[in-house]
Amino acid sequence: MINQHKLILGVNWKMSLTLKQAQEITLYIKNLPIDYSKIEIILYPSILHIYPISTILEDTNIKIGAQNIHYVDQGAYTGETGVYMIKELGCSHVLLGHSERRHYFLEDYNFVNQKMHIALKSGLNVMLCIGESTEEHRTQISEMAVIDQLVSAFQNIKRNMIKENSIIITYEPIWAIGTGKTNSVEDILYISSIIQKTLVKLYNTKIANQIPIIYGGSINAKNVYTILEKTNIKGVLVGKSTLDKNIFFALLKKMNVLQ
Ligand code: PGA
Repeated sequence: MINQHKLILGVNWKMSLTLKQAQEITLYIKNLPIDYSKIEIILYPSILHIYPISTILEDTNIKIGAQNIHYVDQGAYTGETGVYMIKELGCSHVLLGHSERRHYFLEDYNFVNQKMHIALKSGLNVMLCIGESTEEHRTQISEMAVIDQLVSAFQNIKRNMIKENSIIITYEPIWAIGTGKTNSVEDILYISSIIQKTLVKLYNTKIANQIPIIYGGSINAKNVYTILEKTNIKGVLVGKSTLDKNIFFALLKKMNVLQ
């Protein structure tokens, strides 16, 4: 059974779709008979597409988020996007710490932590990505890498800044993103328990239980059911398998959330 709790589905469109393609898929999902008591869907389109996509999603249960924000809320930062700008366009969530941002745009621990602060302060919900690299996986230091990323992201985040589901942790092994490889059920169980224990240590059990842990990295219609069934994760963050209507449909079907 995979639907004992409400599942979370983060849809990360990265820099992959044209506006027309993004609008088409959004309209398609909007018209599907999805049982929203079973799933919370958060779409992360390109920042440029947030406004047109949010107009399609008006009066629906589908949420919208930004793939990135700047760590200062407003000012002379050419090319950046502030939290209040994306909130004004209807965003409820922001994706932070994605490995592509950490790797290609050199976002370090401090950057991610500052973005956590500004996002939570503004009332945005955060989907925080953490995960080990190929090398860390090979040398069996995944646990250490994940704890480091987690602890640094939560630096000076006080208990009263955390509300139920205002932070979602996405465990995404970097070597699994876009590669067709997924982690073993045993490793997902192990790392998610490490994340949970670290949150308990940082705060307490009650707060840790308010922070759902999901999984990402090459999730598709073939592997999603097993991963949800055999682990205790609460949902998935998906890239490639959401770029095509039929594949997206197959994914939702396997998640058992269609009426
Ligand atoms: P993928 O991407 O599903 O294409 O591996 C997931 C992600 O990067 O969030």
